[in-house]
Amino acid sequence: MAESRSHWGSRFGFILAASGSAVGLGNIWKFPYITGTNGGGWFVLIYLACIIFVGLPILAAEIMIGRSAQKQPVVAFEVLQGKKTGWSLLGWLGMIAAFVIATYYIVVAGWTMDYTLKHLVDFSKPVRAVAIEKSLEYQANESLEAMKLTLIEDRADTLAKPLLAEIENRLPPSAWRLHREFEDALNQDGLDQPASWKKNTLEEKRRNLLINPAMAQAVAQVESLQGALAEARSTAKSEATTEIDTLSADEIRIQATTKFRYGLIGDAMTAKFMALLEDGWTSTFWAVLFMALTMAIVASGVGHGIEAACRVLMPVLLAMMVGLVIYAATLPSFGEALSFVFKPNAHALKPSGVLEALGHAFFSLGIGLGAIITYGSYQKSKGRLFGESAWIAGLDTGVALLACMMMFPIIFAFGQDPGAGPGLVFISMPLAFAEIGSGGIVLGAIFFCLLSFAAITSAISLLEVCTSYLIDRWGWSRGRSTLVIGLMISFIGAIVAFSSGEGFVFSSWTSGFGMNYFDTLDFLASNWMLPLGGLFIAIYAGWFLPKRLRDAEVADEHPVMYAIWLFLIRLIAPAMVIVVLAQKIGLFDANEALYNIVH
Ligand code: TRP
Repeated sequence: MAESRSHWGSRFGFILAASGSAVGLGNIWKFPYITGTNGGGWFVLIYLACIIFVGLPILAAEIMIGRSAQKQPVVAFEVLQGKKTGWSLLGWLGMIAAFVIATYYIVVAGWTMDYTLKHLVDFSKPVRAVAIEKSLEYQANESLEAMKLTLIEDRADTLAKPLLAEIENRLPPSAWRLHREFEDALNQDGLDQPASWKKNTLEEKRRNLLINPAMAQAVAQVESLQGALAEARSTAKSEATTEIDTLSADEIRIQATTKFRYGLIGDAMTAKFMALLEDGWTSTFWAVLFMALTMAIVASGVGHGIEAACRVLMPVLLAMMVGLVIYAATLPSFGEALSFVFKPNAHALKPSGVLEALGHAFFSLGIGLGAIITYGSYQKSKGRLFGESAWIAGLDTGVALLACMMMFPIIFAFGQDPGAGPGLVFISMPLAFAEIGSGGIVLGAIFFCLLSFAAITSAISLLEVCTSYLIDRWGWSRGRSTLVIGLMISFIGAIVAFSSGEGFVFSSWTSGFGMNYFDTLDFLASNWMLPLGGLFIAIYAGWFLPKRLRDAEVADEHPVMYAIWLFLIRLIAPAMVIVVLAQKIGLFDANEALYNIVH
């Protein structure tokens, strides 16, 4: 079998394919929005540290395992251990994770294709026309005073944010949580009760709730801050008023009208995206089409399919990206965006953000489930292990940062919130493209086409992990394996597409509750399976991989580099992952822990 195994055409081909796997929706869709919600700056630095100290060593470990075994993960652990052991389960865990991720990945990837087409046919034209008409009406009919008030309120909200965050930091997160529970319990039902009765029950309820000493303390603490909070709000308001007072009447009219128009277009874009989420048939159509393209590439083989596709798609992707970054650099908001991404800003970052950074580093590098073990198994040439890993991680991180530099200037130029969350790509960006007008059609089409390219080179690796099992273990032909696995993924993908309409599909990316089918899959795979897989891969490569095999893979590395890698893979990477998992199980709350350390 070993002689007939397919291999990459060159080392460069391997690096391109593995970077293709790494660079995906995670880089362009998720990274900018978690950077936005975590306030940029520090989050980016911490993300970089996670990539270097945890991601890179595990990436190298995966390549090492694959290259050494020349088999896909399930089979690889048997080959390396010389017999079936519990480690093979690790291969299975990875395959299941790949399958699960693929089923929802193709749905989101399908949406990017849908949006590419939508921009090509200028779908925002009617939206734009209505918005312009209505905003002219607004400009003509709304009083100057009212316009001024909306501008002041808007500006005050922005100014108040850091002030309120500072006050929030004075209490442990648990106090705020308990206070929220208290308020929720108070406000439950009672809405349609007679006023006198309602008042009674409210007081009764309040008394009952406050019997709990922890809650009583939390409520007292939070209530003692009400004055400070109100003061912060009024400071923000008066600063905002002073600022807006310096504007001329014309400026006020222009700004308020623009804001009004953004609001209209934003609502329309949200409605359009929601309509797509609710439309199971359209989502399924695109997801299946996307899967079919992926299958065609994987079925064509390692060199002629995967490598060839990545050789074309990756450079085109990079070129499109650089093009959009150049466009973004012409916007006046470019400087603001750069300082948002790169300038450390402490108030928005919480320890839970640090853990999110580590989790995302796994997803973004595409490690933890053996995709890179599989890719490594198609490599004949030995050596340069760390160099290859550095290239892959460097490209992945570079693209994630470029994605920020391309999106945030556009987001800022059109007055949008960088912390908008998951809707950043499918709502805020289309809004901005619509505002740009006809040039926006081209920019939008390029942007979404770039996203689908990034997605397809990633989906390939997810499919390949599963396909390679049927090839390596059952001796199936590549075409037949691809077809069977591809159809299975498409089928489950269709269910995901139909299930996504029930609520806001992305909720799990921010919170873990109220999950539908889609959310549950993502939650399971990226929060549990990848870190667990990564943990065991690190432990295996560091402690259990036969030394002679490990030495053979790093024979050409500098002994100091090797020693550093061994230290990271044996101790640091496992320890970091365990901390992340412990927080997820709920063993501790990182935000609370930091509060207690600081105070
Ligand atoms: N890295 C890809 C992204 O950022 C997703 C992906 C592809 C992946 N292959 C993977 C994630 C393997 C984990 C494991 O979108």
